[in-house]
Amino acid sequence: MKKITVIGTGYVGLVSGACFAEIGNRVICCDVDEQKIIKLRRGEIPIYEPGLSELVERNTKRDQLYFTTEVGEAIEASDIIYIAVGTPMSETGEADMRYVMSAAKKIGEHLNSHKIIVGKSTVPVGTGELVREVIQANKKLPWVGFDIVSNPEFLREGSAISDCMNMDRAVIGSDNPEAARLIGELHSPFNTRIFTTDLESAEMIKYAANTFLATKISFINAIANICERVGANVADVSEGMGLDSRIGSKFLQAGIGYGGSCFPKDTYALAHISDKAGYDFELLKSVIKTNQRQRYVIMDKLRETLGGLAGKHVAVLGLAFKPNTDDMRYAPSLTIIPELLKQGASVYAYDPIASEAAKRELPEGVTYSTSLDQAVAGADVAVILTEWDEIRSMDLSNIRKLMKRSILIDGRNCHSLQEAQEAGFEYHSIGRPP
Ligand code: UGA
Repeated sequence: MKKITVIGTGYVGLVSGACFAEIGNRVICCDVDEQKIIKLRRGEIPIYEPGLSELVERNTKRDQLYFTTEVGEAIEASDIIYIAVGTPMSETGEADMRYVMSAAKKIGEHLNSHKIIVGKSTVPVGTGELVREVIQANKKLPWVGFDIVSNPEFLREGSAISDCMNMDRAVIGSDNPEAARLIGELHSPFNTRIFTTDLESAEMIKYAANTFLATKISFINAIANICERVGANVADVSEGMGLDSRIGSKFLQAGIGYGGSCFPKDTYALAHISDKAGYDFELLKSVIKTNQRQRYVIMDKLRETLGGLAGKHVAVLGLAFKPNTDDMRYAPSLTIIPELLKQGASVYAYDPIASEAAKRELPEGVTYSTSLDQAVAGADVAVILTEWDEIRSMDLSNIRKLMKRSILIDGRNCHSLQEAQEAGFEYHSIGRPP
């Protein structure tokens, strides 16, 4: 059993803390947000993540998992300190490092015994060294030592618990082999392979992995746009490409572009890091641009099928950036819905989980429906923006009967042309023949 403190109870800190507790460690999760901690102590989870609530409840009950706002005390009580605070995108596109640096300062002030400080947040290369300097400068007890390790996270929202328990790899970067060995040992109960490297390379792996996945998505979306123009089917193209084991089939699903808290932020951040380092990462800048443009493909299709949007009833199905989450960060719906409203459409939106979160982000004027049927009733067109299971498996004949006109625009390619045509729809998807 190891004694671990996790600073930051956002999505990454909370999931990682709960999973470390689940495999038998004593974990203190801390945060400066008092309301959040009060709720977590009552078992109320601030985010929607399947399985997380049960994991938190079980480990809180068996005294493996604690929540506190007393960050200093929590640091003093543990041997391993995870920094899992946010690194949001700043106005310039760079990662905002203020929360990481204030965590480092706090660690320095409360360093009462030798500890391993582990960076979990996605941070620019070189941050580990900066954290070391800040801790060193703020140490109250000069003779106490510490090690710095980078252990980036690779969890996907919506499947974070199983990802954490069965990671493809745990990346551990440090200049001290003993510290790396101890963090490797911490991960041994997980079904994962350990990859050890230096601090800077570990920090770079996280950005390189996320931006490479984003590149795959923008690449297949560009191919989809060409497919539409030359009469090919991107679903087959993607499958045929993916059968080559050098390419792989994952993250080749064409759609309306990537969103969420990671890919948009990390692509911008790496473009900035490379600019600063004197390298113009043109490829990555094009990935970002292609992703931004991809959202407007839906608007083009709407214009082509409906003519103008003024006065049209548009049912928007799915608001979250992807299924199984209520996360609205950089969700395509945040670009598409304001555009629909601007062009005079009446928007009726439905999402199984994210409506409340969406209300905080979207402008006035959207009607939020409590069911799919309600959203599509009387609609001129239904537009799929998130491929929730409920939306994938909806009965298209029933949906069509409820609508005024039978036009379905599928931004996530989650229905087949045949199924849509059998239901009587004029069906448009991304990169597949109409
Ligand atoms: C992503 C990475 O997959 C995780 O490995 C990483 O740990 C995480 O970022 C992070 O840095 O914290 P996440 O943002 O939760 O995870 O979601 P993904 O499942 O990767 O999807 C990201 C976006 O890409 C979504 O908008 C999704 O709709 C889109 N996508 C994904 C596609 O458009 N096509 C695909 O084939 C796959």
